[in-house]
Amino acid sequence: MIEPKENQQPTSSTQTLTTRQGHPVRNNQNQRTVGTRGPATLENYQFLEKISHFDRERIPERVVHARGAGAHGVFEAYGKVGDESISKYTRAKLFQEKGKQTPVFVRFSTVIHSGHSPETLRDPRGFAVKFYTEDGNWDLVGNNLKVFFIRDAIKFPDVIHSLKPDPVTNRQDGGRIFDFMSNTPESVHMLTFLFSPWGIPANYRQMQGSGVNTYKWVNDKGEGTLVKYHWEPMQGVKNLTQPEAEQIQAKNINHSTQDLYEAIERGDFPQWELRVQIMEDGEHPELDFDPLDDTKIWPEDQFPMLPVGMMTLNRNPENYFAEVEQAAFGTGVLVDGLDFSDDKMLVGRTFSYSDTQRYRVGPNYLQLPINSPRAGVATNQRDGQMTFHVDTAPGHNPHVNYEPSSMNGPQEAPRDLPEHSPHVEGRLQRASIERTNNFKQAGERYRSFEDWERDDLINNLVENISAATPEVQARMVELFTECDADYGRRVAEGLEQVRQNKMKDTREPQLS
Ligand code: HEM
Repeated sequence: MIEPKENQQPTSSTQTLTTRQGHPVRNNQNQRTVGTRGPATLENYQFLEKISHFDRERIPERVVHARGAGAHGVFEAYGKVGDESISKYTRAKLFQEKGKQTPVFVRFSTVIHSGHSPETLRDPRGFAVKFYTEDGNWDLVGNNLKVFFIRDAIKFPDVIHSLKPDPVTNRQDGGRIFDFMSNTPESVHMLTFLFSPWGIPANYRQMQGSGVNTYKWVNDKGEGTLVKYHWEPMQGVKNLTQPEAEQIQAKNINHSTQDLYEAIERGDFPQWELRVQIMEDGEHPELDFDPLDDTKIWPEDQFPMLPVGMMTLNRNPENYFAEVEQAAFGTGVLVDGLDFSDDKMLVGRTFSYSDTQRYRVGPNYLQLPINSPRAGVATNQRDGQMTFHVDTAPGHNPHVNYEPSSMNGPQEAPRDLPEHSPHVEGRLQRASIERTNNFKQAGERYRSFEDWERDDLINNLVENISAATPEVQARMVELFTECDADYGRRVAEGLEQVRQNKMKDTREPQLS
């Protein structure tokens, strides 16, 4: 990814250590001092440059998804969606021809804790894919789980604050988490996944991915179809129970990063099939959920998974910081033929990603090789911190950084295909969606688990909820009971057992 600079002139030999100014370094072991014992002198440029660059090595971590691993690869289209020609639904060029290849970069991540936190922690896993298409970049920013905690972007800082460490004790706290969740009933479907073994994928290669939010496809006529994206691992799915994760964590906090890197190094390239679910555009009053509600799964018997292509990861990054840490994905990064739905989470996400990246990486983050499209770039954006080059196309007049112009500046592209322009109408208001139906799918999920998954779910919930106040515990039991009577009963019994054990502990004479 990192190209050698064309104008690089070797100082004495290409192996010679230099400063960033190109000066050969003749002594990298000792500062310049008066005598051997010091004091040191301040004009010591080589030392000052080295140490002051070191002082600035970190950029802000991602506010969420700080811990991650990445890899390069390729996406190969099937030219179809299921058995139909894909052009019926989308004109996106990367999907049209069977065998068409598009380079990709993928970053997997955990969500809540910092950049070197254990990869065994219970957390959704991020699954973000950047497609470098001929029409510019497409980012599909997903998670391993198919649903989310909330359905309105205004709640995102709250849900994340509840999951992050306590601002006083700096420890993650089940009491705070379930205080928030018990007042957020739409979270119960996600919690049912997260506290089961699905909340700890065994590694990044053996997990699914999902775009979670609803997007649209747009065809040559400008007609839209609702679409949800899913990645199915060809390696199979493997999750861990809490005790299995603890065993790994005792010895290795980087096991997923290591697993991905080593698999690619030995040529065992992981693959995922991209599958979509599609639905006619519209509100679908016949469904008991809103198709734009990201706390819901679209049932597969009504909306089957239709394969559209295969992704293979076949190359490790050469520089973790440049390629993985500085990678910037966003839900607004779409190409012609792909569009937003009206999902109000998706709109919020689309603002948030590029906003945080201008702060985290800098206003010119799109000029970095990992983020820059392989398709040509010709903008009138100029300057700002760390400008690396001017975004002009070959042959453009460098004096023209505005549009319109008749002096050979960049011109608008012709619109050869009709725009998708849905009609939207309604009262401006602040209100929840109508079809909330918070509990039905969570209950179905609970019942669909195998016994060992259900047992692990109950144990994990009981352990974490027992840190909450009695009122919060009671509210959580009510929510689980709404999903399934057995679910509520088992959590209530587990919490009661913890209470009795605590009382027994306080009654027993202390040894010391
Ligand atoms: C309104 C809801 C959400 C907001 C406001 C939000 C915001 C953010 C922000 C600010 C980042 C850090 C980006 C960076 O520093 O580069 C991030 C990362 C990420 N988010 Fe979200 N997020 C939301 C919901 C979701 C959902 C539902 C998913 C899953 C579909 C998701 C998946 C990811 C992933 C995978 C990353 C890491 C991307 C990477 O690897 O660089 N987020 N999110």
